[in-house]
Amino acid sequence: GGAEHLPHVNFSFDGPFGHFDLASAQRGFLVYKQVCANCHSMRLLSYRNLRELGLSDEQVRAIAADVQVVDGPNDEGEMFERAGRPSDRFRSPFANEKAARAANNGALPPDLSVITKAREGGAQYIHALLVGYEDPPAGVTLMDGMYYNKYFAGHQIAMAPPLSGDGQVEYTDGTNPTVDQMVRDVSQFLTWAAEPEMEQRKAMGVKMVLFFTVLGGLAYAVKRKVWADVH
Ligand code: HEM
Repeated sequence: GGAEHLPHVNFSFDGPFGHFDLASAQRGFLVYKQVCANCHSMRLLSYRNLRELGLSDEQVRAIAADVQVVDGPNDEGEMFERAGRPSDRFRSPFANEKAARAANNGALPPDLSVITKAREGGAQYIHALLVGYEDPPAGVTLMDGMYYNKYFAGHQIAMAPPLSGDGQVEYTDGTNPTVDQMVRDVSQFLTWAAEPEMEQRKAMGVKMVLFFTVLGGLAYAVKRKVWADVH
């Protein structure tokens, strides 16, 4: 059968006045960093972009310095590893697609930079996918190394349930890291990553509606005046 109808969850960014919940997106980054980044790259993001999530320069520098990135060639023509800098792109977990597949039973973990745009349903789908694991229904046999997921197209997915236990990620802001909370937070983070300018876009939309409402009213007033003497 096809994909199930997605369970609806509310997000702060829903609707024309939607906005990002930066605290949630920051926690979502922790989830990405501690869990998803073991398999998924986010090649379009640089560490310095985390400033826009409200992290300080120091925090960003520390996060970047925590990873080893490949740089070079140096004067001797060799590649070398060094500590990351804020200007570096997020480090990819695998050197190339072949290595990624070899580590994942032949499947390729997609880059998550714009995943909420690439999949129908966006954040709703990410949320559903992460909570959609269950035992296969009677009569369905899973292929080797595959898991049953209600919301994945075809239902057999090569990704083991990545968030399966409360407290799997350590939060620093006092929020209780239940599975549900972590799933919401990482969905928030991935939505921000795919469209950091969403708030400006929505604000512009609201202004356009106001502008055309006023313009429409003026046009109507002018029309009434111009045609006032025509009987
Ligand atoms: C696929 C998200 C952690 C391995 C995916 C997809 C998403 C996703 C959105 C695409 C599903 C689709 O094609 O519709 C996440 C998130 C994670 C996470 C948010 C962290 C919370 C991991 C980890 C691994 C992994 C830790 C490896 C141990 C894979 C693989 C696929 C995949 C192999 C391809 C599955 C297939 O095509 O059958 N993931 N993932 N993921 N992920 Fe993850």
